[in-house]
Amino acid sequence: MAHVTAVVSQKGGVGKTTTAANLAAALAAVGQNVLLLEVDPQGALIPSLGLHPEEIPHSLVDILEGKIEAREAVVRTPFEGLSLLAACLPHQDELILEDAASRHPLHLREVVDKLVPHFDSILLDGPPTLGHLARMTLAASDGYLVPVQAEELSYRTLARFLSVADSVQADYNPDLKCDGILITMADLRTRMAVKVVNQLHEHYGDKLLVSMVPRTVTLQEMPDRGKPALLYAPSSRGAESYREVAEELLSNRDNPTEEEFDDALDLMDQLTEDSTLLAESPEPWLERAASPPTTAELLQNSSLFLTHLGWDPDREERPVRRPPGDDVSLR
Ligand SMILES: Nc1ncnc2c1ncn2[C@@H]1O[C@H](COP(=O)(O)OP(=O)(O)OP(=O)(O)O)[C@@H](O)[C@H]1O
Ligand SMILES: [Mg+2]
Repeated sequence: MAHVTAVVSQKGGVGKTTTAANLAAALAAVGQNVLLLEVDPQGALIPSLGLHPEEIPHSLVDILEGKIEAREAVVRTPFEGLSLLAACLPHQDELILEDAASRHPLHLREVVDKLVPHFDSILLDGPPTLGHLARMTLAASDGYLVPVQAEELSYRTLARFLSVADSVQADYNPDLKCDGILITMADLRTRMAVKVVNQLHEHYGDKLLVSMVPRTVTLQEMPDRGKPALLYAPSSRGAESYREVAEELLSNRDNPTEEEFDDALDLMDQLTEDSTLLAESPEPWLERAASPPTTAELLQNSSLFLTHLGWDPDREERPVRRPPGDDVSLR
């Protein structure tokens, strides 16, 4: 079952398409079967993956118009593990996408649901707007990744974007999560960039990815080269940064979210009062382990408890919080 990540921002030119393509290549390089699903009628992914529109028989427009099934529009790219579903072809009317999104905001979600069983990751390349199309993209996703340039205007648009994401979560997609804010085109030799990076840390520190993508000519060459930088310059700084982004996202996904973590602490409190609870617990994350340790073992060693929930005790990024009055020492 694929994890579905939307690469989205209403700000144009912040690196959404570059991020989607290179992240997809990084995930394919670790053996994943990845689908790049364009939701931006600009169609920038097509040349970036070495394809020509004539080679692509169908698009998202055809699916939303009910002419074909979702899988019929998926094309294999020349690169192992990477497939593409194009948004709109040159002879098609891009307004059909916006129109479909305004009439049926969950339409894309229904399409994505049919594709999820066939891939390990699905990356949605979003449009540079906050309109119906962007909202439909968020409604179809498990998480969203927001590329932001280390510059004032890009930073200022972030709050508005996050409030729209929150409203999509409230209206259509209760499980939607922020997978991260990613600083792109970073050139930390300028004072302005350093100032914006500091502001981002201050205001969005919990969402900001540790990985950062540098401004490099290598990444800029993607549409010209017809492949992600990971494939034409695998040892470049740009390629390396996207491998780090992929690694960070995968590692964040494996660890419990803040909410799961809080639930775990609550459950621990309850367990001290009722040791039969673990066996009966309906919590889905307790079902992850093949052979669950006994309650007594868990209570004896709280770090074993957290590891059992998928928590990596060696990771330091996520703060470990103690519930008030808790006398069990957590690592
Ligand atoms: N890290 C980078 N270093 C240098 N140039 C970059 C970098 N990332 C992207 N670019 C270049 O910046 C431009 C915009 O990037 P991209 O198309 O990925 O942004 P986008 O957010 O998808 O744009 P749009 O909003 O139009 O869809 C492109 O010319 C791209 O090659
Ligand atoms: Mg783009």
